[in-house]
Amino acid sequence: MQIKLKTDTENFLHTNPALYLAFYRDPNLCTAHFIHALLAEYKAGKKVLDIGSGLGREVAYLNSMGYEATGLDNSQEMLSWAKEHYPASPFVYGDQADFSLNQQFDALFCVGSTFLYNFSNEAVLSSLQCFRKHLHNGGLLYLDMRNAAFFLTKEGQRWLTEDLAEQTIFEDTVVTLKTRFSIDLANQILQRDYSWTVTGWPPIIEHLRHRLFFPQELTNYLSSCSFRLLQIFDNPTPHAGKYDRQSPFVFSNEMLGTRMQVIAQAV
Ligand SMILES: C[S@@+](CC[C@H](N)C(=O)[O-])C[C@H]1O[C@@H](n2cnc3c(N)ncnc32)[C@H](O)[C@@H]1O
Repeated sequence: MQIKLKTDTENFLHTNPALYLAFYRDPNLCTAHFIHALLAEYKAGKKVLDIGSGLGREVAYLNSMGYEATGLDNSQEMLSWAKEHYPASPFVYGDQADFSLNQQFDALFCVGSTFLYNFSNEAVLSSLQCFRKHLHNGGLLYLDMRNAAFFLTKEGQRWLTEDLAEQTIFEDTVVTLKTRFSIDLANQILQRDYSWTVTGWPPIIEHLRHRLFFPQELTNYLSSCSFRLLQIFDNPTPHAGKYDRQSPFVFSNEMLGTRMQVIAQAV
């Protein structure tokens, strides 16, 4: 029997939550634990918003820990998945650059490179202004995204010159994803050419993009939108499963790693 997938889409993973789960299992809820620890460390309040909430795991975990967490996403498929799996948590439709929930939060977080779907400078500013508008004075912002500076390292250069292959089992079928990265330098866009092989399906080819940000650039955007930078770091890396929740926070800001993360305060 052929497995169920939606292929007429602009983003195969964002339209197929079960497949997203198969590729990003996070069995120990590393990202959720990290966010929880971060919010506690910075004494943020309990009313929080997850932008690009995807499967809803982080929102559901935080609510189980006594938070008042809401998820926002622009994929109807992701929202339906999250609502079905976590009916006690609220999930709303919205675009990060243009949403209005008519309320303010103690903290906002946007993890898993959602912020990199702001391709233009205008979209970056709109998103940060929108985030600021939804935060109380003193509120906390945590962003997690791919690190542009990584592509200047030897390992990053390898990522640009070789096909990268990943495989997972999805509903008893082996799904293979081959990725080829290249950079549109003038526009600071990482071009991601994806080739999916799923038994019973013709090959699925996608061309996706991520805006690339360097640390100083992002810092400048944040300050121009009334945020004060508290931390910019590449490690720990919860989104890549690298976070030991027993250890106290030690941030590395060498920016050699694959992720760039910032913690900022609304001022
Ligand atoms: C890579 S997933 C990350 C999901 C989740 N935060 C995680 O870390 O597992 C990116 C999510 O952002 C959503 N997204 C992409 N562009 C968006 C936008 N402009 N506004 C709101 N959500 C967006 C996608 O639908 C998807 O659920």
